[in-house]
Amino acid sequence: MRGGSKLDLLVGDRAEGCWSVGHGCSLGIRNSEARLDSVNFERGRFSLLRLGSDGLLTFQRLLRLVFSRRTSRLVSYDLARLRTRIKRWRDKGVAPDCPKLHLGCGERRVTGWLNSDVSGSEYDVDLACGRLPWKAECFEAVVSQHVIEHLELFDELLPLLREVHRILKPGGSVWLSCPDIRKVCESYVSTGMDDLLEDRLTRWPKYSLRGAPSRHLINELFHQQGEHLNLFDFELLSWALYLCKFDSVVQIEESDLLERFPEFPARNDDRQSLYVCATRS
Ligand SMILES: C[S@@+](CC[C@H](N)C(=O)[O-])C[C@H]1O[C@@H](n2cnc3c(N)ncnc32)[C@H](O)[C@@H]1O
Repeated sequence: MRGGSKLDLLVGDRAEGCWSVGHGCSLGIRNSEARLDSVNFERGRFSLLRLGSDGLLTFQRLLRLVFSRRTSRLVSYDLARLRTRIKRWRDKGVAPDCPKLHLGCGERRVTGWLNSDVSGSEYDVDLACGRLPWKAECFEAVVSQHVIEHLELFDELLPLLREVHRILKPGGSVWLSCPDIRKVCESYVSTGMDDLLEDRLTRWPKYSLRGAPSRHLINELFHQQGEHLNLFDFELLSWALYLCKFDSVVQIEESDLLERFPEFPARNDDRQSLYVCATRS
């Protein structure tokens, strides 16, 4: 989980209409720096554990007693999403201060944009929850780089794209990038991933496949330790965008994005990435 040393964990059980995931872990956590709060939630009253960074580490260690590293990380991430959904559940029709929205910003805060992510951002949202808190037609532009591949296509991404269409002003556009399934497969077939590995090393000199042959990079791009759910090519992504009522979808390059919004830091990742701009009329 990125961005933040705190995790809010709901405990309770399904009989109370709550999540049971943290229930068995709470005794161990109480021995660390956990602090008990409470929160009123729609369906009742539940305990909320507020964990400091030590508590979070303890919690992750406890998860590791039961689950694989991958499952432990995904459970931690889902708890961060849950925390954000609880934080935002009353937020509807919010009028933003800024007409440009940067979704899934990660560590890349861009000046002049509302930088949003699941935690630790200027305005946290869970992009997978099916709705966005902002009022209709309030943004001129939305940018999201290397985020859509983290979402389920039907249950999460299509609802998100419909919401992005809703919050864009007429004439507004969404700019998306993600690993390009075509470029990844072409690299595997033509060079066994040598060219994309070389490209990656020019951008991240410390990147390592830990001794595995370069073709292992295709696993990283497809799965990223279980974080990536779908890669896209232009056909698949434009299908999704048209389905969500966008009127024009064009394949672009990173330079087109940077020309339009020079404040964005360059990723220099055209060799592996798909860039798309979709507009609503
Ligand atoms: C690979 S990082 C990309 C970060 C940044 N856009 C960049 O280009 O460096 C993916 C980002 O998507 C965010 N993300 C993934 N799933 C999300 C969700 N359900 N809600 C909000 N953000 C999410 C992650 O927290 C992470 O910051």
